[in-house]
Formats: sequence, C-alpha cells, structure tokens
Amino acid sequence: MSGYFITFEGGEGAGKTTVLQLVSDRLRDKGYDVLVTREPGGIKIAEKIRTIILDPLHTEMEEHTEALLYAAARSQHLAEKVVPALKQGKIVLCDRFIDSSLVYQGYARGLGMDEVLKINQFAVGDCMPDLTLFFDIEPEKGLARIAANKDREQNRLDLENLEFHEQVYKAYHILAESFPERIQTIDASQSLETVEQEAFDHILSLLK
Ligand SMILES: Nc1ncnc2c1ncn2[C@@H]1O[C@H](COP(=O)(O)OP(=O)(O)OP(=O)(O)O)[C@@H](O)[C@H]1O
Ligand SMILES: [Mg+2]
Repeated sequence: MSGYFITFEGGEGAGKTTVLQLVSDRLRDKGYDVLVTREPGGIKIAEKIRTIILDPLHTEMEEHTEALLYAAARSQHLAEKVVPALKQGKIVLCDRFIDSSLVYQGYARGLGMDEVLKINQFAVGDCMPDLTLFFDIEPEKGLARIAANKDREQNRLDLENLEFHEQVYKAYHILAESFPERIQTIDASQSLETVEQEAFDHILSLLK
C-alpha cells in the first residue's frame, strides 16, 4: 500500500483530537492528501456493532464479547475506509486504534494485553500503523483539561476513576517500550504549539 497509516493515542484530555485536526490542516496546506478518521468511522456495519456494545439494555454483555465486537468493528472500518484510502496513497490519521483496546480492555479492565492483541491481530491482519503518536500526560492533568475546557462534571476526577486512568497511563508506557519503532512518545504536557510541532515533525520524518 502506498499511503501512510498514522494513529493518535493517549489518555483522555491528552490533546489527540486537537492536534490531529491541526496537523491535518498543515499537511493539506503542504499538498498532501489526508483522510481523518476515528472508529467506527461512519461505517454502517461498524456503527451497528457499536450500538450493540453501547446499548444500556445489554447489561449481561460479557467482556470477551465486548472485546471481540470492538475488534470486529475495527476490521470493518479498516476494510471499508482505511485500506482503500491507503491504496490511493493517502495519509490516514486515525484518532485512537488498536493500542486503545490493548490499554483500556487488555490492561485497565484486566483481559490481558496479549489476549487482546491476538484477537486484534486477527482483525487487522497486516494493516498495522506505520507510526503511532503517544500523547504522554499524567491522567490528572489530562482530566483537568477536560474539566476546565468542556464544562464536564468534576466527579470524573474521583479517586476510583483516577485509579483507572492511572492504569491506562501505565499500560501506554508498557506499549511504548514494547514497540519503540512504531510508537513515538510526545510530552503532551507542553504547550499546544510545541506538541503540535513535535507531532508534525514525527510525521514528516516518516514521509521522507
Ligand atoms: N497542549 C495543550 N495545552 C493546553 N490545553 C490543551 C493542549 N492540548 C489540548 N488542550 C485542550 O485540552 C482539551 C482536551 O483536548 P482533546 O479533546 O484534543 O483531547 P483528547 O486527547 O482528544 O481527549 P479524549 O480522549 O477525551 O478525546 C481541549 O479543550 C483542548 O483545547
Ligand atoms: Mg478526542
């Protein structure tokens, strides 16, 4: 495939969506053909699978089932949207991808990162990201940004919640150490300008 597949990862409030948007504008200004996406990516089948996962009536949903459904939706999003764009030579920027499953379901929810990796490898085949940017910020700071900027309830910061986000944070570091060629870590506590520049530089060095 002639394009480039780049994923944006990190905890909540790290700046993924903000930086992705800025970087995509800059790449387009330079003349690159860019596709911005996130799962389920507006893909009908993937949206339906997501509805099943999120339905509040499905309280009996077992966690392996949930992990498999996420992997299934991912597979469809790849096949219908990402792979065709890569074949057309586009730069695909995806807001969260496989690492989010490994971190949230594999580690923080306790299914096991290796187990979740296995089912996701089946789902994605050889379509792994060429580059993953990990936006590294302590969960407390990331959550504070969301609380400050989105007018969300402060109780997102209660202790139990924070403990979960600490697990997520720890797992991202494990992944970054395990896949140093693919995952580039950016100190996301810096100014937005600096974070965006570093993200842009990593992408440009991939494109060269
Ligand atoms: N480097 C930064 N410095 C200060 N504020 C920032 C920075 N980056 C992003 N923000 C602000 O923090 C908030 C959260 O950013 P954003 O929504 O991009 O995070 P996210 O990683 O996409 O979070 P989520 O996982 O919840 O989608 C936004 O209001 C954004 O403007
Ligand atoms: Mg976001």
